[in-house]
Amino acid sequence: MAYSDLKELWLEHYKTAPTQLKKMGEVNGLISAFNANVDAVIKVSGKDIEKIISENKLDLAQITGEGESSIQTNEDAIRGFLQCFKDGKAEEWLIDNKTVFNWLNKTVGYDKLQMGGQGGIVANVMAVCGVNSVYVHCASNPKEQAQLFLDLDNLLSVDENGKVAQASKVDRKDDLPLIHWIIEFDGGDTINLGGTAYTCPKANRFIATYDPLNFKLHVDEQFSKCMTKDDVNPEYIILSGYQMLHENLKDGSKGVDRIDASKEMIKTWRKSCPENLLHLEVASTQDKVIRKHLIDSLVESVDSLGFNERELIDILEVIGEEDLATKCEADINAENMFLGMLKVFEYTGCPRLQLHMFGLYLTIQKKNFKITSLQNRNGMQLAATVAAAKAGTGSINTKDVLLWAQGHKVSNVGLDELTNLQKLVTSMYGENKLLETGLFENDLMEIIAVPTILIEKPVTLVGMGDTISSVSLVGAR
Ligand code: GLC
Repeated sequence: MAYSDLKELWLEHYKTAPTQLKKMGEVNGLISAFNANVDAVIKVSGKDIEKIISENKLDLAQITGEGESSIQTNEDAIRGFLQCFKDGKAEEWLIDNKTVFNWLNKTVGYDKLQMGGQGGIVANVMAVCGVNSVYVHCASNPKEQAQLFLDLDNLLSVDENGKVAQASKVDRKDDLPLIHWIIEFDGGDTINLGGTAYTCPKANRFIATYDPLNFKLHVDEQFSKCMTKDDVNPEYIILSGYQMLHENLKDGSKGVDRIDASKEMIKTWRKSCPENLLHLEVASTQDKVIRKHLIDSLVESVDSLGFNERELIDILEVIGEEDLATKCEADINAENMFLGMLKVFEYTGCPRLQLHMFGLYLTIQKKNFKITSLQNRNGMQLAATVAAAKAGTGSINTKDVLLWAQGHKVSNVGLDELTNLQKLVTSMYGENKLLETGLFENDLMEIIAVPTILIEKPVTLVGMGDTISSVSLVGAR
């Protein structure tokens, strides 16, 4: 079938988006845990950086030299930035030292504050999509944080007295604001340092994070206690935030013990709604001990796992699939990603896996999983529509903007990927109609693949993965 016909066909499939959105309003309770933080976003130019270096008399050798991917000194912060800038890549480094945090605050500042952290971003999206009660865990919720929650009465957290309250109206005055600097730069810009010119190949961002609470997966006990109450009824629990943990934490405790403790705690939340769906958003977990423990231990209790291309490769690396990881790394395409997902499916036994990659979303699930294939496809189409609204308009803070991209056709990139995936599935399992329907099943599993809408010049990309995973899951009804 020609691409023009396929695009018409997918436009027809995508027409269910408004109905799916309405169905999200039937969900009673949803918990989003653990990480919400303040994202301080600033766009800097090469010239700005040159100025900061000279005005603060920073040591150039330290900035251009080698070192660990963490921030102990002012120079480290600029070193991290420079590495991202000259390669056009995205990285997140942690700030260990409060003095550096204060220095960045004073010298770099920010253009705008926005909701950060997977937990916070998911909570805002779920609330604006109409889920009846969204409960969001906050390691800290002072005014600076609370004001970033949408002003909606279905978006709840706990106040300083441990009572459930509208998240945006809480002001826990003694809490510490947890700030992540999202320092963005433009492609084509140049930094001149000590006679060398560094030119940036691609717009991207460097994240410098000061977040002593989420680093150790700090849990607000009051929140946890509230979540065990009968009336919470969490039909969905969406987890994230484990990615900041390290094998050994500063206070001498172990990161894996924090994971195990949270696993026990979540069991108590599930009691009021035993049929609920537990989803883990893997996120970029640098520490391999933590990553392996998440896959080996936490995943055993989850129903659904979400990741992007990079995060899938990271998982392969810790489950004994290094060769496949290398192959995926060399060529990130739907076929390699599918082969990788099959390995993760086999290794973890997790009933539902969902990948979001550029142009295509792909779900593999156990046959007869409680969400049907068609429900999944409808959820994924809604997610692609909402994600395109976020990319195209810059924010999805009001209900009326959610379906902004309705009527946009799916991308060529997506159809290319799906064409190749179909060929692979045909060679492995026989004839199928994946390209036309996005659906395939055999005795063991169901595959759902959806080509997405792509926006030419996205206004923002931060939090895109979190949005896609949560809407795909909760919109699949
Ligand atoms: C990372 C960053 C956080 C950002 C999020 C978006 O967790 O630390 O600041 O909001 O990614 O997904």
